[in-house]
Amino acid sequence: MIKQFPDNFLWGGATAANQFEGAYNEDGKGLSIQDILPKGILAPLTDEPTDDNMKLIGIDFYHRYKEDIKLFAEMGFKVFRLSIAWSRIFPKGDELEPNEAGLAFYDRVFDECHKYGIEPLVTISHYETPLHLAKAYDGWINRKMIVFFERYVRTIFTRYKDKVKYWLTFNEINSIIHAPYISGGIWTPKEALEEKELYQAIHHELVASALATKIGHEIMPEAKIGCMIIAIPVYPLTCHPDDAFKAFETERENMLFADVHVRGKYPAYAKRMFAEKGIQIDWDESDEEILKNTVDFISFSYYMSTCDTLDQSKKNGKGNIMGGVKNPYLDASEWGWQIDPKGLRLIMNKLYDRYEKPLFIVENGLGACDELIVDAQGNKTVIDDYRIDYLKQHLVQVHEAIHDGVQVMGYTSWGCIDLVSASTAELKKRYGYIFVDRYDDGSGTLERYKKKSFYWYKKVIETNGKAL
Ligand code: BG6
Repeated sequence: MIKQFPDNFLWGGATAANQFEGAYNEDGKGLSIQDILPKGILAPLTDEPTDDNMKLIGIDFYHRYKEDIKLFAEMGFKVFRLSIAWSRIFPKGDELEPNEAGLAFYDRVFDECHKYGIEPLVTISHYETPLHLAKAYDGWINRKMIVFFERYVRTIFTRYKDKVKYWLTFNEINSIIHAPYISGGIWTPKEALEEKELYQAIHHELVASALATKIGHEIMPEAKIGCMIIAIPVYPLTCHPDDAFKAFETERENMLFADVHVRGKYPAYAKRMFAEKGIQIDWDESDEEILKNTVDFISFSYYMSTCDTLDQSKKNGKGNIMGGVKNPYLDASEWGWQIDPKGLRLIMNKLYDRYEKPLFIVENGLGACDELIVDAQGNKTVIDDYRIDYLKQHLVQVHEAIHDGVQVMGYTSWGCIDLVSASTAELKKRYGYIFVDRYDDGSGTLERYKKKSFYWYKKVIETNGKAL
């Protein structure tokens, strides 16, 4: 069947400031929580930034953005997802005035995108809370974060209102359940964190997200503002009704975040959930009204599905923040993430059945070890057929979902240029169409090389998916 994608489908790629910009202390940037997290989400923090932290230099997008955006344009990108590093704009997070040099950097980046007709898709907060806000306020546990966030979003919306149409509030907002430090800037160690504090932080983020949506719509009536969640279908490990219900509950725990963003209020099931956990959330009297500012679309990352069962001793899966239980029918990536293209069609249909709001797939891709070789023409490249195969299989399912009736705005594959991994802080876990010559021992020239998938994706975009 010839693949038919919508005419205005936004093809592109996705990144995050802390994983690729580098320049961690240049032009007035303050430290972010990532600058003292050198070995990934499960490893200990350091007191100061250390040389073994690959994110400090990243892939040096800060100085090479022109070259990189030119390569994205060569692939035909319609959209480029990037995040603004909050600590470039407000170095500590609680200042009253922004850092002009930080604002000017993103002006240059957005101008460069527009030079090629590429729309920026901007994540406001992607795992890079200013470190000071984590240390001094315990991150989103503290209600004052809403005030700091409001100041930050007003600043960037006002500054970039004519340059950015598509915005996402918090990257993978539901990941806070599993990664409270990187997702919520919460300084209290996970083991010491009470569920009540966790859900209070979640409530603050949900209110802040709705407030950003409200302010964004006021300042930029034409803008589209979305939430961003990790989408993971959860299958029951067996057809035992207990397993089916367990899987349903696990999936719903994640859906709660989209429910509030899309419906403008907590869902009915939250009442029992909070009661059973013994949680009573502190509400400000304005919260109920603020939450009514719902999003224009739902964006999500998709890498894997998982299973669940009542027998929790079976929890052995690995993956994108939440592991779950291994599925005997699926293969996994070198990092143990279960590969499930059909799961993408499934979760898209589930989300659309539930909300009937446009979807945007803003992350998907295969993290793999690549080998740089010299081809017959003497060019350095990577023959990454495994990546092409992964992406193709997933895009075929996106196409199926579109023809199931799901409204989809676009697709930005993760790490369109190699960057530092969020979970393990390695560079050897590569996702890109463009190879970056940098290695985990800190060596490398930072030169960029086009992989085989670069030409494949270019063709997919050129034909609006027909070449799949
Ligand atoms: C998502 C994050 O969880 O997955 C990205 O939004 C991250 O920041 C991506 O990089 C892939 O995960 P990893 O750990 O392979 O980099």
